[in-house]
Amino acid sequence: MEKTFLMVKPDGVQRNLVGEIVNRFESKGFTLVGAKLMQITQELAEQHYGEHKERPFFGELVDFITSGPVFAMVWEGENVISTARLMMGATNPKESAPGTIRGDFAVTVGKNIIHGSDSSDSATREIGLFFKEEELVTYEKSMISWIN
Ligand code: PPS
Repeated sequence: MEKTFLMVKPDGVQRNLVGEIVNRFESKGFTLVGAKLMQITQELAEQHYGEHKERPFFGELVDFITSGPVFAMVWEGENVISTARLMMGATNPKESAPGTIRGDFAVTVGKNIIHGSDSSDSATREIGLFFKEEELVTYEKSMISWIN
């Protein structure tokens, strides 16, 4: 089953949106297999956003993501990587549709509430950066048979 890495950013934690966001993915029918509230170090932030190192906003991005606790999660389900991206909405909230997380709660691209892996490779990389193997659980939910 496919897995993705999702993270409520410091603005989402401060605005008490963790429950709302978890609820959306649970209600959709995905399964939470790992989660933790954590403070990202400078080193982890630079690794996580390494591909954006040369971009003008890199410093701002690292400062923001380390500015307060984040809620890191691993979700599992059929097509969860692409579906979670749809549920998050466009990166820039001025283009994200109402009904999406960013469309409903965010205003600027610098504070856009949630991060989600954009491909299978980045999901594997990001899950590995944030979680140890033993922090992820595998379990059956009887409800799943009513979804898939
Ligand atoms: S994407 O979704 O990866 O294609 O988006 P991209 O435009 O490449 O942006 C990558 C991450 O950088 C954040 N971002 C910014 N932060 C601060 N200021 C500005 N101007 C800015 N532009 C983009 C954006 O929210 C993406 O963060 P993540 O956590 O990957 O969503």
